[in-house]
Amino acid sequence: MITFEAVRKQFPDGTVAVDDLDLELPTGRITVFVGPSGCGKTTSLRMINRMLEPTGGTVAIDGRDVRSQDPATLRRGIGYVIQHAGLFPHKTVLDNVLTVPRLVGRGRERHRALELLERVGLPAALADRYPAQLSGGQQQRVGVARALAADPPVMLMDEPFSAVDPVVRGQLQEEFLRLQAELGKTIAIVTHDIDEAVVLGDRIAVFRQGGHLAQVGTPEELLTKPADAFVRDFVGRDRGYRGLSFQGSEGLVLRPLDGVALDEQGRPVGVDGTFRAGDSLRVVVDLTLTSPTGTAVQVDDQGRATGLVHHHDVVDLLEKRR
Ligand SMILES: Nc1ncnc2c1ncn2[C@@H]1O[C@H](COP(=O)(O)OP(=O)(O)O)[C@@H](O)[C@H]1O
Ligand SMILES: [Mg+2]
Repeated sequence: MITFEAVRKQFPDGTVAVDDLDLELPTGRITVFVGPSGCGKTTSLRMINRMLEPTGGTVAIDGRDVRSQDPATLRRGIGYVIQHAGLFPHKTVLDNVLTVPRLVGRGRERHRALELLERVGLPAALADRYPAQLSGGQQQRVGVARALAADPPVMLMDEPFSAVDPVVRGQLQEEFLRLQAELGKTIAIVTHDIDEAVVLGDRIAVFRQGGHLAQVGTPEELLTKPADAFVRDFVGRDRGYRGLSFQGSEGLVLRPLDGVALDEQGRPVGVDGTFRAGDSLRVVVDLTLTSPTGTAVQVDDQGRATGLVHHHDVVDLLEKRR
């Protein structure tokens, strides 16, 4: 676990970038630092690997003050990924990834680097290219592969997916979550994008101007119980809709399948999308809002239709839960 205890960072010019920060980043989970620009996210991140030193309080990893550890040794256990990947332009993709294991002095390096590239979704054929010959998304993948090269238990990522277009960003986020499900690293990610925070975070820390922590909690807690007006504004007007992702569809009263054509197995025909009993209300609402009849068909595990809901039914259910 990484802990911030009463951490403060004041720069020599007097700017207080982080003020009295208390925060815990659980082991093996993703904690996202989110907030508007200039509110101290990057500064907080950099105090974990001693790129910056706090002017007050303590940052500790598993109970050990990071200041008691030699910076070079400390950083071997901490992968670091930045926006635009920060690759060495004059080194090939492979050599960029190899930078780290060479520092650590491991054998079988080339093989491992190629394996890592494959893991982050890059074909081995790209290994001998230079960064400028890659797309932004590919460069960002190389940056992740490089950070993973020494197999560090901790990863710090500063706006890792911000420089790529939304479609590629979505793919990178998805692949990253798949990788993390296997690796179980302790990860801190900085972003200014609340949607990214909700997708990636097990826990989200919302920062506000002046380096204050506004709220920390699960995505669900932030969306459904914002601590104050600042957080409510920051998570956005459509938080009610996004919050539906965390509400199950159990308790919806199903209507008869009037007007729904079924095949011999009882599966609906000519329906764009269906939901299952375990799906969230957001899935159901998405379906009802895009269906010309305002309805969505529920199916069982075999795909057989079990009933119909109208979007009014969802509204009624939400009324009841309130
Ligand atoms: N080296 C520095 N000297 C003085 N002020 C700095 C320095 N680095 C960052 N700051 C200031 O500290 C505040 C927080 O910066 P930063 O942590 O980079 O914010 P964020 O990552 O949330 O956008 C900003 O007001 C920024 O201008
Ligand atoms: Mg920043």
